[in-house]
Amino acid sequence: MKKTIKLMAGVGAISVMMASAAFADHTVKVGVIAPFSGPFAIWGKQFKEAVEVYVAQNGETAGGHTVEFIYKDSGGPNPSGTKSLAQELIIGEKVDYLGGLVFTPNALSVASLIDEAQIPTVIFNAATSSIVLQSEYFVRTSFSLWQVSVPMAEWAWEQGIKTVVISVTDYGPGNDAQVAFTTAFEALGGEVLDAIGMPLSTTDFAPFMQRIKDQSPDAVFAFLPAGPPTFAFVKSYNENGMKDAGITFLGTGETDETTLEALGDAAIGLTTAYHYSAAHVSDLNQAFTSKLDEMFPGSVANLASVGAYDGAHILYQMIAAVGSDRTKAVDVVRGYEWESPRGPVSLDPDTRHITQNVYIRRVAKDENGNLINEEFQTIEAVPDLGLL
Ligand code: PHB
Repeated sequence: MKKTIKLMAGVGAISVMMASAAFADHTVKVGVIAPFSGPFAIWGKQFKEAVEVYVAQNGETAGGHTVEFIYKDSGGPNPSGTKSLAQELIIGEKVDYLGGLVFTPNALSVASLIDEAQIPTVIFNAATSSIVLQSEYFVRTSFSLWQVSVPMAEWAWEQGIKTVVISVTDYGPGNDAQVAFTTAFEALGGEVLDAIGMPLSTTDFAPFMQRIKDQSPDAVFAFLPAGPPTFAFVKSYNENGMKDAGITFLGTGETDETTLEALGDAAIGLTTAYHYSAAHVSDLNQAFTSKLDEMFPGSVANLASVGAYDGAHILYQMIAAVGSDRTKAVDVVRGYEWESPRGPVSLDPDTRHITQNVYIRRVAKDENGNLINEEFQTIEAVPDLGLL
């Protein structure tokens, strides 16, 4: 009898010890999929740096759980490769959460997988509205093209712009940008003279500039995926005398901070509607950008940085609340409000997409002579208008 009691106490002690050790030492793994090679490699760099800034400011643990980020290189638009990487992360690395995802086709490719494996997945970028409808496990901390293109159209109309040619990369987000801008602009009485779909692989934009010029619109509204395509398009706009022809530039992420200096003074005055400028005036943004500069000298914050920084914040909220009991994680952040370096934001309880201010900005020089996206008008608390 005595012996049995002793043995039971022993087993109890061991299981209590194991439980507390498991809680204290349990590492929660997050797989981050992004381009780290090829023409869009800047995205992976920006994501990783922003996550590391977040960890430096907030610690390596969330609610007592150590958080480990595991990065995988998807290259550019690559749905089948992305799906394989997600499988590898879920089955091989046993991650509990996923993050990253720059391109819409890549994000779409993991929807059924994360549903089956019940893996909460924070989209740091991919911006076609309908993505979040493909799985209840998606949460998005970036933006959508509907969210920014409607305010751009409304601002253009207010400026007296009456005719526009739309020029977009021909895939999900480009199609959303075109439909969103057209819907808002035509509702006000504006006219879309032409809508040009440009292949993702295009590098020579001169023929498109000619086609736009031939129609003498008041403005061109563009969407291209940030990176070499946006840089080449804006450069081509500047070099083909579009401004002198009286064609105003309207865009979203085309004046991305990582390419501004290379665009040079020709970019001054370009107008865009977007959710984040590295020059956003707030203490939190100042703390974020100065920590980024301290940890990674020469780096500048852009849309990718803020999507990943807030993505890390949401991952930390979920992990702090439920650890690796991930099936309940998404419910924890529905309706969650916080301050981001971009301004006040929240996650829509139904769509799990970020509601945020949209800023109308123009490229200008700051007091140090650096080119910035200067915010001059704010449209507050805009939801994903493509999901209404
Ligand atoms: C997308 O594929 O959804 C995408 C990619 C790059 C951007 C914006 C959207 O800059």
